[in-house]
Amino acid sequence: MTQLAPVITIDGPTASGKGTVAHRVAQALGWGVLDSGALYRLTALAVLRSNISPKDGPSVVRAAQELDVVFHAEGILLGGREVSEDIRQEQVGNLASHIAPNPALRAALLARQRAFRVKPGLVADGRDMGTVVFTDAPLKIFLVADVQARAERRCKQLIEKGISANLADLLGDMRERDARDINRAVAPLVAAPDAHTVDSSNLTVEQTVQSILDLWSVVAGK
Ligand code: C5P
Repeated sequence: MTQLAPVITIDGPTASGKGTVAHRVAQALGWGVLDSGALYRLTALAVLRSNISPKDGPSVVRAAQELDVVFHAEGILLGGREVSEDIRQEQVGNLASHIAPNPALRAALLARQRAFRVKPGLVADGRDMGTVVFTDAPLKIFLVADVQARAERRCKQLIEKGISANLADLLGDMRERDARDINRAVAPLVAAPDAHTVDSSNLTVEQTVQSILDLWSVVAGK
């Protein structure tokens, strides 16, 4: 039997630093990365660009099935157009969280996500990586940070990119988005029973990455 490539899953609320941490952990191990939120954001962007109503479930699912997406080293192409910046907009993230509860949409994106599992290994970040998509992952992380710290980080990131941002608005949006992700019936944001919770509120990115690499050393050494 061929052994499946190992996966480290990193789930957690919005702006908990999952993306940056996942990339750094993957880099340290020489593994690939799956940013599963990007697939929900890409679907949201396709919905916006095709003027599909987000409430029209079957059309949203079709948009996901037909996503013409290429992930490459420098960015993401949707229908041949570079969209890495576009999918990071707050409006797209919010729409992603509105369409994400649809079970048929989640099912449509499942195979695309699992296809990222190739050797030597994968670091997968999202909301349901450890609970649904890679339930057999040998290491599962639930990355949390208090909402104020997350909103401040996101605000700083946006301002650095020259995008105007208001802390109070971001805080409100973030609380609403977390509530939608936590309270949905299918694949809610919850720690897998076998996940290790890492609170990054008072940790630097380097310290967070190191704590995950330390946990991996223990698992890999078994
Ligand atoms: O992580 P990110 O902010 O890019 O995700 C955008 C939205 O996509 C989330 O708020 C969530 O609703 C949805 N999502 C999801 N499952 C995942 C990843 C993201 O439902 N695995």
